[in-house]
Amino acid sequence: MEGEFYYPSQDAIAQTYVRDWEALAESARNDLQGFWAERANELFWFKKWDKVLDDSNKPFFQWFTGAKVNIAYNCVDVHLQTFRKNKLALIWEAEDGKSERAFSYYALNREVTRMANIIKSMGVSKGDRVTIYMGRVPEIVFAMLACAKIGAIHSVVFGGFSVDALQGRIADSESKLVITSDGSMQNGKLVELKRIVDESLRHCPTVENVIVVKRTNHDIPMEGGRDHWYHDLCALPIANGKCATEVMDAEDPLFILYTSGSTGKPKAILHTHGGYMVGTYTTLKYVFDINDEDRFWCTADPGWITGHSYLVYGPMLNGATTFMFEGGPAYPYPNRWWQLIERFGVSIFYTAPTAIRALMRFGDAWPNKHDLSSLRLLGSVGEPINPEAWKWFHRVIGKERCPIMDTWWQTETGMFMITPTPVVPLKPGSGTRPFFGQEAEIVDEEGNPVPDEQEGYLVLKNPWPAMMRGIYGDPERYVRTYWNKYPGKYMTGDSARRDKDGYYWIIGRVDDVIKVSGHRLGTAEVESALITHPAVAESAAIGLPHEIKGQAIMCFVQLKPGFGPTEELSEELRKHVATHLGPIARPDEIKFIDKLPKTRSGKIMRRVLKARAQGLPEGDLSTLEE
Ligand code: PRX
Repeated sequence: MEGEFYYPSQDAIAQTYVRDWEALAESARNDLQGFWAERANELFWFKKWDKVLDDSNKPFFQWFTGAKVNIAYNCVDVHLQTFRKNKLALIWEAEDGKSERAFSYYALNREVTRMANIIKSMGVSKGDRVTIYMGRVPEIVFAMLACAKIGAIHSVVFGGFSVDALQGRIADSESKLVITSDGSMQNGKLVELKRIVDESLRHCPTVENVIVVKRTNHDIPMEGGRDHWYHDLCALPIANGKCATEVMDAEDPLFILYTSGSTGKPKAILHTHGGYMVGTYTTLKYVFDINDEDRFWCTADPGWITGHSYLVYGPMLNGATTFMFEGGPAYPYPNRWWQLIERFGVSIFYTAPTAIRALMRFGDAWPNKHDLSSLRLLGSVGEPINPEAWKWFHRVIGKERCPIMDTWWQTETGMFMITPTPVVPLKPGSGTRPFFGQEAEIVDEEGNPVPDEQEGYLVLKNPWPAMMRGIYGDPERYVRTYWNKYPGKYMTGDSARRDKDGYYWIIGRVDDVIKVSGHRLGTAEVESALITHPAVAESAAIGLPHEIKGQAIMCFVQLKPGFGPTEELSEELRKHVATHLGPIARPDEIKFIDKLPKTRSGKIMRRVLKARAQGLPEGDLSTLEE
């Protein structure tokens, strides 16, 4: 049943490190800015703020204005002055299990400093953009923190994206430097990252240098003067020695991260040093109750926001030990993850519904082979988790002991927004209620609140420190996309409902964003990849429900004269999208169509296509072209 409660046991509550749950919630309710100021006071500032929140130029909110800070200093340097100096910051295991690396905070500082010296030596300084395109290896963490340390703005591009996506992101950000690796390993197969970089750079004149980390050790061409092996650079005198941490304004850019929206090219979501730091630090501390005894594993890739906030920044701000695994859940066998939890004694495990559903399919025997008793908390993110998968996760992995934190948030929010804490009664499939002090609402088309139990649009009502500071280079688009429809309220792009207990249930995106295995893709991106194929006149991509992946991509294609709808062409088009945009965007199905349904003003009616594909009523067709 949808409404059933799962109460945390008295033991589970007694074991949390945080004690004053009620008082915290109460203080945030009564004085939101005071609450955040108190959290911020737990971190290190070169100079404290004049104002906690400056909302004089809405929706361009600013936090901790006047303060001087650097997030990297808080992730690394501050721990060197405590017992954490020799504590493990990062543990890593390779996909094939043949190598394992571990870094204390002391070692992390050495690695980050060296990388920062090298990046600086490439002529990169404060405010310059650096694109990072790698697999899940420790160097991606060093690169992100090194950029932050010297005030450069990192733009991490997911290693599962391909040429079109990478090139667009490098060009839009006008990056000076690209940091990559020769290749990465995915399910035993080599992904030729450097080759993809080479192709992308043909049309990216701003890039002066490419740093290449050796990972797969296969032969790759290196362009003289532009490409440099990282290990060669490390051997140079410039790499060694101290590197000053740049003193940043709280509102100075920390990173941009491209994410897909309804229309047009992906948006460069901008986050800043001060607010993002306070938001990710606080939410990880309270939602996952993270502590020095924990070993925290977030399975996300650093190429997505979850990896930014909760694999890199959040854990390191908390001085936690974070585990990072290069591979996926089921390679070579479906017990890979469970084996790692046992081997490394993971205590908090944060993953995505798509992975849980996929692993659930292999049955209980795989996890049951392993001792999972180190676990105390579980987490889920990226898409709605169906109650069946939730219950399996709870019973088979968490042994009914470990509460599941179903965290709802977005690239744009930077931090958890609707989420339980370990002491909250849970309902499978609901993220429960907004985080301390936050307010959400479900509204109708006109922005009026709808009654409980009724579906509507999810909006957020008050600002929070880790909120995006805009779309890099396009302030107008920021206002138009998120703030225009319901003045004064942030539009999330999700539909949801609130039940009679005040719990929120996310239904899904209301725009043209598709969530494939938790990866956020835009229909526009898939369509732009298709249109570069000579046979395609026009196309429309839609997301359809899929048992494991959450959503599958279906494309309707109108062919150019002279091309016939064959099975071979269909396969070729799917491959074309995978090569250009990335394997994650490979369409599950291509349907050839004589004419796409359009409105009289020429807009493709994806709603009609979606209904047709599912055999559902097509609704109001009065605006259809013919
Ligand atoms: O639709 C919601 C879904 O993911 C969207 C945000 O995607 P992205 O920016 O890639 O960030 C994903 C990781 C934070 C949201 O608009 N979503 C995210 N978390 C959940 C979710 N849907 C339901 N439940 C969640 N816990």
